[in-house]
Amino acid sequence: MTAARDARELFTSLTGRQPDGLWSAPGRVNLIGEHTDYNDGFVLPFAIPQRTVAAVGLRADARGRVMVGSTFADAPVEVGLDELDGLFPTAPGTPPAVPDWAAYPLGVAWALRRAASGSGPFEALDIAIASDVPVGAGLSSSAAIEGATASALNDLWGTDLDRTALAGVGRRAENEAVGAPTGIMDQMASMLGEPDTAIFLDCRSLETRLVPLGIAAAGLAILVIDTRVKHAHSTGGYRERRASCELGASLLGVPALRDVSIADLPHAEELMDDVTFRRVRHIVTENQRVLDTVRLLREEGVRAIGDLLVASHVSMRDDFEISTPELDTAVDTALSAGALGARMTGGGFGGAAIALLEQDAVDAVSDAVDAAFAASGFAAPLLFTVAPSAGAHRDA
Ligand code: GLA
Repeated sequence: MTAARDARELFTSLTGRQPDGLWSAPGRVNLIGEHTDYNDGFVLPFAIPQRTVAAVGLRADARGRVMVGSTFADAPVEVGLDELDGLFPTAPGTPPAVPDWAAYPLGVAWALRRAASGSGPFEALDIAIASDVPVGAGLSSSAAIEGATASALNDLWGTDLDRTALAGVGRRAENEAVGAPTGIMDQMASMLGEPDTAIFLDCRSLETRLVPLGIAAAGLAILVIDTRVKHAHSTGGYRERRASCELGASLLGVPALRDVSIADLPHAEELMDDVTFRRVRHIVTENQRVLDTVRLLREEGVRAIGDLLVASHVSMRDDFEISTPELDTAVDTALSAGALGARMTGGGFGGAAIALLEQDAVDAVSDAVDAAFAASGFAAPLLFTVAPSAGAHRDA
């Protein structure tokens, strides 16, 4: 993993010291359950091997400052810990008061102080960040930054929050410091991942169940197809989808779309316009698909879930309308080249698709996707397999 070496080297070049430690957290792939998290519903993500590393050290500084640097920024940013309450929350619709990339770790420092307000002292520190998680690919590079930073600060400040609380700190940073109105899925996956396991999460109660996947044992693999079409969830479509879901829930008189079942859909259709209804139908059917996937994994194993992955993609393409031509090409080509199932993963409007396929079909499917992208005039996709992996931890 080059991120560990890069984070350590950046720390040393910025401070002239060695860090007190290295903490890392992974990106995630969502197997199924898209846009259901902020509707209090169900999701089934897993952590991927690609990680973000934070090299962090306390520093002797009576003024209580925090400096954060990153390999993808030209210069570090430094602020006083006491200034954080003046910087955040970021006013809705405006950019953060610090560069975007710095709003993630500084937002975590802010949200962690808020969440652990009785503890402290919150000592001055330096943070250097490097990442192996592709940015803007729908693989939660932002949750990985939040998870690595939150784990480091929780240890060094002795705030002693558990993993679920740290996921909440990351989400708060994302929502209120960065200004992206996302749910809790990515942070929970990044904090709680386990090898060969998906996390079945009830986003209302935050109860989790680890679901064994047995992908390699079944002779299968998960191929990620990063379309390289970048997305950002702080703007545009993601926010609009969320607003449609809230409108649908309020027209139905329920706290969240989690409380609507498939049997309620005919009634829902009478109450609302066609677009809102289709947004609602995606969420309601997607929640059911997550439950069905968890049941099939238990009863029949991972080979059985391909059709549910495809149905999820079709629902996102036609009802939720968050796919792109590149994502549809990735999914259609993977399926016609023999994948058992495929779907876009993450928030949509770009990013990555995943395909569930035989291990010995990885090369053929990859070649077919490459050829289809070239034939359509799309930029070459980035293709790699991922195995479900460990969540956030201290590395050194
Ligand atoms: C992004 C958000 C998540 C979730 C997904 C869509 O990844 O960060 O909270 O809403 O989109 O499922």
